Amino acid sequence: MSDGQSILLTGGSGYVGSHTYVALVQAGFKPYILDNFSNSKKNVVERLERITGLPVPWHEGDTRDVSLLQEIIVKNDIAAVMHFAGFKSVSESVANPLKYFDNNLAGMIGLFKAMENSACRTLVFSSSATVYGDPIEIPITEKSPKNFLNPYGYTKIVCEEMLASLSVSNTQWRNGVLRYFNPVGAHPSGLIGEDPSGPPNNLMPYLAQVAVGKLPILNIYGNDYPTPDGTGVRDYIHVQDLAEAHVAALKTLFKTGSGFTVNIGTGRGYSVMDVVYEFEIACGKSIPYQFVERRSGDIAVCYADATLAKNLLNWNAKLSLTDMCIDSWRWQSNDFS
Ligand code: NAD
Ligand code: UFG
Repeated sequence: MSDGQSILLTGGSGYVGSHTYVALVQAGFKPYILDNFSNSKKNVVERLERITGLPVPWHEGDTRDVSLLQEIIVKNDIAAVMHFAGFKSVSESVANPLKYFDNNLAGMIGLFKAMENSACRTLVFSSSATVYGDPIEIPITEKSPKNFLNPYGYTKIVCEEMLASLSVSNTQWRNGVLRYFNPVGAHPSGLIGEDPSGPPNNLMPYLAQVAVGKLPILNIYGNDYPTPDGTGVRDYIHVQDLAEAHVAALKTLFKTGSGFTVNIGTGRGYSVMDVVYEFEIACGKSIPYQFVERRSGDIAVCYADATLAKNLLNWNAKLSLTDMCIDSWRWQSNDFS
């Protein structure tokens, strides 16, 4: 159990932040949401109130607004921050890198300043397996070299480097860096889930929108990869497991006082076809699909060595691909978005 510390969630009404909000409440923490709603809707706050049965403290604002963040941290006696806020579309980052540098880098610097000024130096950061670029080893360990394939990946590497420099400058900084693999699924209530604006870039939301009839057909990007069925292999992780990983990370930071960088995945890879078959079972329909050219910048295989998270955080993923598909389908077919 926690001592009821207050935790600030930047980007807390987004996909991962909202699920983590619920997990934090259940673990006895007092989360507080700061979001500029650039990629989420305000109705998420009401949904979180329905799920938790409690009022949700939240504020509309931007992580680049240093004085606002500082005020929130001080007023609410914030003990730690979970930094979810940022943009995450690979293709958009290629088309508009400055948008990504401004939001993801300047946004993080704004947060750092506010935290430093208010002597709140415990942070959990949403990093990504994208920092490994085209990985040189599978499964990927945290020691694998970092490399970026696009401006989005570059921002995650720079954020990680900034965190490392801060810890050198002041040992009071306790930073937990979580490198997520492929988060999918939704809360079992069906009230919150991934809610992309416009056509989804990622497999699971695209598949779900085909299943519900919003999109006509799934394009599978390549069937000639060096994988068992020729389609890309990824480490899909249920967002509920990911939310629990944040709680475990926070508890570890409070308990040990030391920072860490860990992979957050299941340690298992599934192909695009594996996901399609499992989703067909979950939704009870066949999914129309066609094989098309490989997507530029895609890699063949990406899955985690998840041992360090188990050893360090005492956390491991529990939910299966079946759970991920059932929960994604429940969320999509509710059509709350
Ligand atoms: P999301 O877009 O659903 O949530 C991000 C939230 O941050 C949104 O609610 C958005 O409105 C808000 N936001 C963006 N910029 C902001 C700013 N400057 N100030 C305040 N709020 C701002 O994304 P998500 O899937 O929940 O991802 C959360 C974090 O995890 C991101 O940093 C993302 O890069 C990282 N990540 C996500 C994935 C994934 O596949 N979902 C994988 C690896 C890493
Ligand atoms: N795919 C399709 N059709 C689609 C969408 C995806 O065939 O419509 C395939 C991709 O080619 C890939 C697999 O499904 O083989 C997974 O693709 P996603 O777009 O869902 O996920 P990625 O692994 O490509 O990328 C995600 C995030 C990135 C992050 C990366 C590593 O979108 O931001 O995981 O964490 F960098």
